[in-house]
Amino acid sequence: MQQLTFPDVGEAAVLADPAFSSNKRRPLHRWVNWIAGFSADFVASTIERYLGSADPASACVLDPFAGVGTTLVEAFRRRFGTVGFEINPFAALAARLKLACVRLDLARFEAAIATYDRLLGEVETETDAAYRANGSTDWEARLPQPASAPPRAFRSRVPFFSPPVLHKVLFTLDYVGGLREGDPLIADMFRLAFGATMVGYSNYTYEPSLGSRPGSGKALIDNASVRLPVVAKLSEMLADAAELQTMLGRGAQPALAAVHAMSFFRAPECLRPQSIDLVVTSPPYLNNYHYPRNTRPQVHWLFGDHAARILRQMETESFGTFWQTVRDLPPIALHMPHAGLGERLAALRDVSPGRGAYSGAGWANYATTYFNDAYRFFRVLWPLLKPGAHAVIVVGNSLLKGIEFQVDRIFADIARMVGFDAAVEVVRSSRVGSSIVGTGLRSKPRGARAALYEAAVILHKSASHPDGSV
Ligand SMILES: C[S@@+](CC[C@H](N)C(=O)[O-])C[C@H]1O[C@@H](n2cnc3c(N)ncnc32)[C@H](O)[C@@H]1O
Repeated sequence: MQQLTFPDVGEAAVLADPAFSSNKRRPLHRWVNWIAGFSADFVASTIERYLGSADPASACVLDPFAGVGTTLVEAFRRRFGTVGFEINPFAALAARLKLACVRLDLARFEAAIATYDRLLGEVETETDAAYRANGSTDWEARLPQPASAPPRAFRSRVPFFSPPVLHKVLFTLDYVGGLREGDPLIADMFRLAFGATMVGYSNYTYEPSLGSRPGSGKALIDNASVRLPVVAKLSEMLADAAELQTMLGRGAQPALAAVHAMSFFRAPECLRPQSIDLVVTSPPYLNNYHYPRNTRPQVHWLFGDHAARILRQMETESFGTFWQTVRDLPPIALHMPHAGLGERLAALRDVSPGRGAYSGAGWANYATTYFNDAYRFFRVLWPLLKPGAHAVIVVGNSLLKGIEFQVDRIFADIARMVGFDAAVEVVRSSRVGSSIVGTGLRSKPRGARAALYEAAVILHKSASHPDGSV
C-alpha cells in the first residue's frame, strides 16, 4: 500500500497514561465503568500543566464528550468551573451526580441505603425460598407483587433478567420510586447504582460490546442477589460523597458546574463565547464502538418511555455517527481539503467492492463522516475558547480494512485549518482494543498489523485571535 506522508509533529510522552483502568479504584471515578473513559491521573496532569497557576475562581474546564465525567470531577475537585456535554443520558446522569453529591444529605442517604438493604433482604429471602421450592412455574403465585413493570419497549434476544432476578429488580424500582418525591437527588443516586450494576446480574455481558452471556460462552444466570451489588455500589457512592464534602465543604460549588445531556454541537445554545480556559476530552474513536446499543438496557430501564426517542437521537447525533448508519448511503464527500486523507479514503472506498454493505465504500462513508464531524467540532469549539486557551484531545489510530488512519495527525491538520496551533504527543504507544476493523466487523485482515496507539492532540488558540472568529 502506498505510504502517505503527514506533516511532522513533535512527539514526546510527557502526559500521564490515559488508560481508564486505575479509575476502577478511585473515589467517584469508580462509580460506573465506561468504555474508553480515561484516567483521573491523565486529566490531573493535564490540568496541572495548563492551569497550574490559574485562579480556579475564574477558570473553566470543558469536556465536550464528557462520558461519566472524569474531566469534570478532576476540575471540580480543584474548584475550577467545569462544564460537560454528553449525549448518552446514563453517562450524563453519572457525571452530574458525581458533582451534585457535594450537596447530598449524607445522613438521609445512609438511612435510605439501610432501609433498602433491609426491605430487599426480606424480598430476596422470600423470592429465593419460593423459587427453590417451586422451580420455574408458579413460584411467584403466593408472593407479594411489585408495582413497577419492565420498560415496555425493551426487547432482548434472551430474557434480560431471569424471573427471580426480575422480581427483585422490580421491587428495587418500587423502592426508588418511593424515594423520588422526598429526595430526588437520593433517588437518582439509587437509579445510578442500579444502572451501574444491572448488567452484572443480567443474562448479558460486556466483552466489551454488550452481548448475551451464552453468546460469550457463559451460563445464563438462574438467580442472583440484586440487593448485594446495589448496596455495595451505594456504599461506595456514600463514602466518596463524604470524602468530597470533607475536601470541599458541603455544598461548595464553583461558579459553574454543569452537565448538559445533549450534543456538544449545540453548545453555543448554552455556553458564552470565549468562556473556556481548557478542554480535556476524548471523543468517540474511529472504531465504530456503538455507545447507544451498548447502553440500551440502562437507557430503557432508567429513562422508560423516552428510551426509544433518546436512542434514535443518540444514533443520529453521535460524533462520527456509525458505520451502520452511513454504509448504504451514496458516497459522502469530505467537507474540507486534505490531500493525504482524501487519498486514504479513496483507497478504502476501493477495497472489496463486491461485498455490499461490507465493502470498503461503506467504511469510507463512515470514516468520512467521522472526519467531517471533527471539522465541525473544531469550528464549534473555536469561538468558545478564550484566546490563549488549550484543548487536549485524546484519540487512537485505527485500521479500517487494513488501511491505517492516524487520527491524531489528521485531527491536528483539521484543527490547523480552523485556526488552532496543533501538536501531537503520543501518550500510549501500545493499547489493547478492537480498533482493527477487517473484512468482517472486527476480524483482522491477514498481514495488516499496525500498532495501535493513543495520542493527545494539543490545540492552542493563540492570543493573536482575540475576536474568536475563524
Ligand atoms: C470516549 S468516550 C469519553 C469518555 C470520557 N473521557 C470518560 O472518562 O468517561 C466518548 C463519549 O462521547 C459521547 N458523545 C458522542 N457524540 C457526542 C456528541 N455529539 N456530543 C456529546 N457527547 C457525545 C459518547 O456518548 C461517549 O460517552
